[in-house]
Amino acid sequence: MTTPDSPLETFLADCQKRIQTALEHHLPSADTHPARLHQAMRYTTLGGGKRVRPLLVYAAGIAVGAPPARLDIPACAVEFIHAYSLVHDDLPAMDDDDLRRGRPTCHRAFDEATAILAGDALQTQAFYVLAHARELDVAANTRLRMLETLALASGSRGMAGGQAIDLAAVGQTLDIAQLEDMHIHKTGALIRASVLLGALCADTLDEARLKHLDHYAKCIGLAFQIQDDILDVIGDTATLGKTAGADTVRDKPTYPALLGLDGARQRAAELLAASHAALAGFGPEADPLRGLADYIVKRES
Ligand code: IPE
Ligand code: IPE
Ligand code: MG
Ligand code: MG
Ligand code: MG
Repeated sequence: MTTPDSPLETFLADCQKRIQTALEHHLPSADTHPARLHQAMRYTTLGGGKRVRPLLVYAAGIAVGAPPARLDIPACAVEFIHAYSLVHDDLPAMDDDDLRRGRPTCHRAFDEATAILAGDALQTQAFYVLAHARELDVAANTRLRMLETLALASGSRGMAGGQAIDLAAVGQTLDIAQLEDMHIHKTGALIRASVLLGALCADTLDEARLKHLDHYAKCIGLAFQIQDDILDVIGDTATLGKTAGADTVRDKPTYPALLGLDGARQRAAELLAASHAALAGFGPEADPLRGLADYIVKRES
């Protein structure tokens, strides 16, 4: 006899299936010209991953009563940005990694130039679907706010800026404030945008509720990267699907390096508690967000 899935497991499985279909649909097909570039985009995006950012879009949308069909496009957009960031993060000029999601990285499976272009094209595909897709049936000013939110979170004042801070910090000893600033930018910004995009799909937007959701997202965004740093130390390559211990080899400043494993775990636990507290004014409609927060901090890959 199998035990019934928990509500969170059902939510994760349903959304992961849903996002896979949507991503598939909104990527150029592998046989259209230029085929090699389209194949690299599909290889990178469709081959695994936890889909945490799309899950946050769906969970935030559920918390504000948005219909699921409206959430597919923002969910695709954040995953396209994320997939692009991984392709570029793995390039020899950045983290120089050979393994991602249990398979050769994009530049290994294809070549460096194709990987650079696949990242570029995935980034623009995110903005294309968000600007264009009719399934996203929101007012034009809401669509613009979504585009602005995602652009800010992805660029030099968001993820790309965080990556620049990360590269400049190699071999340096950062203090805790500097480390937090790096993590908030390189990982937190896109996670925050994912929650905001989901919330912006509400029929009527309540700015006070949006503020609470944003606070939740800030806490869980930082906790996500702390857990990523912890897993780099305690995880194994097979489970992670990426090379374990890579941060130490590259002399990256990380939470475990600065605070030790216990200190890093304690900080993640504090942020988890704060993310739950931010949802205190919500009822069961925010249970998927609560479950995702737990999942982000307790995950093993
Ligand atoms: C890895 O992100 C890169 C970071 C921002 C830490 P994920 O752990 O979400 O990677 P996938 O999408 O599940 O492969
Ligand atoms: C990457 O951080 C953050 C991104 C913007 C992709 P990491 O370099 O720690 O991510 P992993 O560990 O390679 O997935
Ligand atoms: Mg990196
Ligand atoms: Mg990396
Ligand atoms: Mg990492």
